[in-house]
Amino acid sequence: MLKKTYWKSLTPLVIVLTLGATILWAHNGVKDPIVIKRMKLMSSMADNTKVLGQMIKKQIPFDAELAMEALTSIGDLAKATPAAFEINASDPKTGAKQIIWDEFKDFSELANQLADIAATNSISTYDDLRPVLMQTARSCKACHSKYRK
Ligand code: HEC
Repeated sequence: MLKKTYWKSLTPLVIVLTLGATILWAHNGVKDPIVIKRMKLMSSMADNTKVLGQMIKKQIPFDAELAMEALTSIGDLAKATPAAFEINASDPKTGAKQIIWDEFKDFSELANQLADIAATNSISTYDDLRPVLMQTARSCKACHSKYRK
């Protein structure tokens, strides 16, 4: 019972991690260097989030230092997000919606919120993982549901 509730509450995270699985083929055929760069930034977001996810699932041992490294990287990537999307570059394979550039302030704000989550949280025990990851995953999803195809 307890376990069931636990997994249910992890659903946003599972969604984020599954999205990561589409990366490999999504990059195929993308030509615009700016689009490639911002996709790589996002792939890196997913890689770092995955580290936290694997720790929660005990697929890799808990390591506070590694967890904090991942969280710090997520924060740095979030800070770099507005600049990576500043130029309205397009590519037939882009997953970015055009409204990003109509609402660039709101888009940047969502990136800043993720940077804040990373900056104001810390992970020192296994139990710290879940709340941090939930907040992080919600933040990814908040932006994706609005600005990603
Ligand atoms: C401020 C908005 C925003 C935030 C926050 C955000 N993303 Fe994204 N993400 C995007 C957009 C826009 C795209 C589509 C980019 C493109 O295809 O040009 C994207 C694409 C991706 C992709 C696909 C990349 C590819 O190679 O096609 C992954 C994976 C991803 N994001 C993971 C994450 C994760 C994990 C987080 C949270 C830790 C996150 N993103 C936070 C906006 C955001």
